Amino acid sequence: MISVLQPVEVTNVPEDEILIICFNEVLPLGEGTLTIAFQGTLNDKMHGFYRSVYELNGEKKNMAVTQFEPADARRCFPCWDEPAFKAVFKITLEVPSETVALSNMPVIEEKVNGPTKTVYFQESPIMSTYLVAVIVGIFDYVEDFTTDGTRVRVYTQVGKSAQGKFALEVALKTLVLFKEYFAVPYPLPKMDMIAIPDFASGAMENYGLVTYRETALLFDEKHSAAANKQRVAVVVAHELAHQWFGNLVTMEWWTHLWLNEGFATWVSYLAADQFFPEWNVWTQFLEESTTGFKLDALAGSHPIEVDINHVDEIDEIFDAISYRKGASVIRMLQSYLGAEVFQKSLAAYIKRFAYSNAKTEDLWAALEEGSGEPVRTLMHSWTKQQGYPVVSVKLKDGKLQLEQTQFLSSGSTGVGQWVVPVTLCCCSYSRQEKFLFDGKQEDFDLSGLMECQKKDNFWIKLNVNQTSFYRVSYDEELASRLRYAIETNKLSAADRYGVLDDAYALCMAGKQKLVSLLHLIATYKDETEYTVLAHAITTSLNIAEMMAVAAPEELGSLKKFLIDFLEPFAQKLGWDAKSGEGHLNALLRGTLLTALAELGHEATINEAVRRFNVFLEDRETPLLPPDVRKAAYVALMQTVNKSNKTGYESLLKIYRETDLSQEKVRVLGSLASCPDPVVVREALDFILSPEVRNQDAIFLLRGVCSGAHEVAWQWLKENWDYILGAYSGTLLTYFVNITVSPLATDEKGDEAEEFFKSRTKASIARTVKQSIERVRINAQWVKSIKGEADLGNVIRALAHKQ
Ligand code: BES
Ligand code: ZN
Repeated sequence: MISVLQPVEVTNVPEDEILIICFNEVLPLGEGTLTIAFQGTLNDKMHGFYRSVYELNGEKKNMAVTQFEPADARRCFPCWDEPAFKAVFKITLEVPSETVALSNMPVIEEKVNGPTKTVYFQESPIMSTYLVAVIVGIFDYVEDFTTDGTRVRVYTQVGKSAQGKFALEVALKTLVLFKEYFAVPYPLPKMDMIAIPDFASGAMENYGLVTYRETALLFDEKHSAAANKQRVAVVVAHELAHQWFGNLVTMEWWTHLWLNEGFATWVSYLAADQFFPEWNVWTQFLEESTTGFKLDALAGSHPIEVDINHVDEIDEIFDAISYRKGASVIRMLQSYLGAEVFQKSLAAYIKRFAYSNAKTEDLWAALEEGSGEPVRTLMHSWTKQQGYPVVSVKLKDGKLQLEQTQFLSSGSTGVGQWVVPVTLCCCSYSRQEKFLFDGKQEDFDLSGLMECQKKDNFWIKLNVNQTSFYRVSYDEELASRLRYAIETNKLSAADRYGVLDDAYALCMAGKQKLVSLLHLIATYKDETEYTVLAHAITTSLNIAEMMAVAAPEELGSLKKFLIDFLEPFAQKLGWDAKSGEGHLNALLRGTLLTALAELGHEATINEAVRRFNVFLEDRETPLLPPDVRKAAYVALMQTVNKSNKTGYESLLKIYRETDLSQEKVRVLGSLASCPDPVVVREALDFILSPEVRNQDAIFLLRGVCSGAHEVAWQWLKENWDYILGAYSGTLLTYFVNITVSPLATDEKGDEAEEFFKSRTKASIARTVKQSIERVRINAQWVKSIKGEADLGNVIRALAHKQ
C-alpha cells in the first residue's frame, strides 16, 4: 500500500546549504519517492544555474548555463549534492522554440508547442550531481565521429563554428587515445563541447557536455597565437580525461579532489605529447611542477589529501597543490614504476571502480598490486603530509652524502620526511643509478658509477630529467661542475631547467647568494630550448622586481645585463616568423619580446610601435602576427603616460572592435603594464566597468607593471566591498593572491594582515594566509639582498662583460 506523507516542517539552513524536512512520524524502511516543487532565479554569478550574455545579429541575448562543481547543483534543484551520492538523471526542459537545449545525454524527443517546446533527454547512467549540466541558447556547431562511432560536436556562437574545428580534431583523437589507455570505452552515446562567453574557470568536465571559456576552446587560424592553440589542446585533453577519471570513477569526497585534477593534468600532457611531439610538452610540464613547488614551500600549504569540513572550504582546494603537485607526484610514480605497469594498473583501477567512487588509497592499492612495489608507503609520504624535501648532496672521500630536509621558502627547516625516489647520473646519461632514500642522512658508496670523478669534466646530477618532486642543493664543488656541464651542453633541457629553478628557490630562501644565481643565469647564454629560456626570463624578471625594492640604484645595471643577455636571442628570432618554423619558436618570440619591452629595451619598443601603428590601420597586416601582439601591446604601454595616453586608447579601440576573446585577453593583459601609476589606476578601474566581463578581470590584474604593485593593492582595498559582492569562488581568491603576493616589505605585510583581519571569511581564509606569507618571504629576501656586500660590483661587472 502506498502512503503519502506531508512534512510538518521544512527548514532552510543557509550557512550549511542544507534543507531539513521533518515528518511527524518515523519514515518506513524501503524505497520512497520524495516530491519537491521548487523555483530559482537564473543568477549572474557564474555558479549554479546562471545566465551568460552574448550577441546575435547585434542584439544582446541571454543563454542559460550550469556550473555545478563543486557544490552548486543545489542552487538549481534540491539534491544530495555530494560526489558519493550517485544517481541517474532523467531531464526534461521547457524552453523557447528557437533555442537549442543541451544536456548530458542525447535528446529523445522534442515537442514544439508554439513559442515553447518541451525537450526530453535520455536517462543518464549513474553519476554525481556536480557533473549534471543543462544549456539553453542559440548556437552553431561542427560535428564529426570518432573511429569507433561516438558523435562529437563543438558548439559556438552563431557564425563562429569554424573556430571549433581544431578542438574537434583534438577531441576525436583524444577520445580514442583514452579509450585505449584506460581500456574502457567512452561511456556515453555522445560528447558535446561548448564555448560559454561568461565562465568562471577554464573549462568544466560535465559528463557528455563539457563547457569551456571561449579562449580554451576556440581557435582562429588568422588571429589566434601558438600559445592559444596549445591551451586548447591541453584543456580539451584534460576535460576528456575526466570523462573516465572523475566522471566514471569519482572521488569519494573532496579530500580526494587531487585524484581528479592531478591525474587529468598529468594525462593531458600525455595526450598532447602523442599528438604534438614537436611541442616538447614534458619539458613545458616543468612549469607545472615549479608552480606546485612554490605553493608547497609555504608553511600555509596543505597536504594533497586535505581535510574538508565545510562546503566553503572546497573552492580553495582547486589550487596548485591539487593540480600541479598532484600531477607531479603522479609523474614521479609513473617514472618510478615504468609506463607499462602504470597504465595496466590504472586500467584495472578504472574497471574496478567504474560507476562508483574511490579514494586515494584505492589507487595506491591497484598500483601496488600491479607493480609489486611498496606504492602505499612511498606515496603516503607525498600525499598525506604537506611540503617536499630538498636533498643536499656532498661529495666526501669519494662517497656521496645525502641529507633531506623539508624545503621552505622562508628559509626555516620543516620537520617533514619523505621516501624519495632518487635518480642520479654521472658524467653521462648512460651512467645512472636509482634508489629509494627514506632516511634523514645517508652515505652512498657509488664508486662504480663514479669512476669518472677524477676527470676534469666530472659532473653529477640528481633527479634526472626532473621527473620527481624534490629539490637538490649541491655543495659548492658539485655546483660549479654542473655550471660547467651546462656551458658545455652536457645536460638535457629538463635538467638545465631544474638546476636553474632549484638555484632560484634556494636563493629566495636565503640559502644561496644572488650573485651566484646571476652567474648561473649567464651560463644560459646559448640556451636552445623554449621552456628553459622562458624560465630564465621569468627568473630574471622576478629578480629585477626584488632589486627594485632592495637596491634601486643597481636596477639600471641589472637591466642592462639582462637586456644584453636576451638581445642576441631576439636578434636571431626577429619579429617575423620564418616559413615553416616550429611552434616553440613562436612561443619563444612572444615571451622574449615581451620581456625586452618590460625591461625598457628601446629598439624593441620602437619596432613594436612601428608595427603596431600599421596594425591599427589594418588588422590583417602581416607585420603583427598573433604570436607577437601581446609583446607589441606591452611595448606600446611603455610609451604611455598620464599626459599622453594615445597608445592606451588605441588598445581600447582594438579591445572594443574585436570579437575574439583571445584578442581581448591580450589587450587586457597589457593595459596595466604602464610605468605611470596614474595610468595603472585608470586601467584597474576599467576592470570594474561593464565593458570587462567578470571572468576576465584577472588578466588585467595579472598584467600590473612590476613597479605598480602598491597601486594595485591600494586599489583593491578601496574597491574591496564591490569586488566581494561581484565575485566569488576561485575568481575572488585570485584578486587576493595576485594583488597581495608581490608586495615585498614587512610594512605592507602588516597592512594586509590588518586589512583582512576584519574581512576574512572561510572561502578566502587559506588564500589570505598564503598571500601574506609570500609578502613576508619577499621582505626577507629583500633584506638578504641588501646584505650582499659585493652585489653592486658583480652586477656592474656582468653588465659590462657581454
Ligand atoms: N573541474 C575543473 C573545473 C573547476 C575548477 C570546477 C574550479 C570548479 C572549480 C576542470 O576540469 C579544470 O580543471 N579546469 C581547468 C583547466 C585545466 C586544463 C587545468 C581550469 O578551469 O583552469
Ligand atoms: Zn580538471
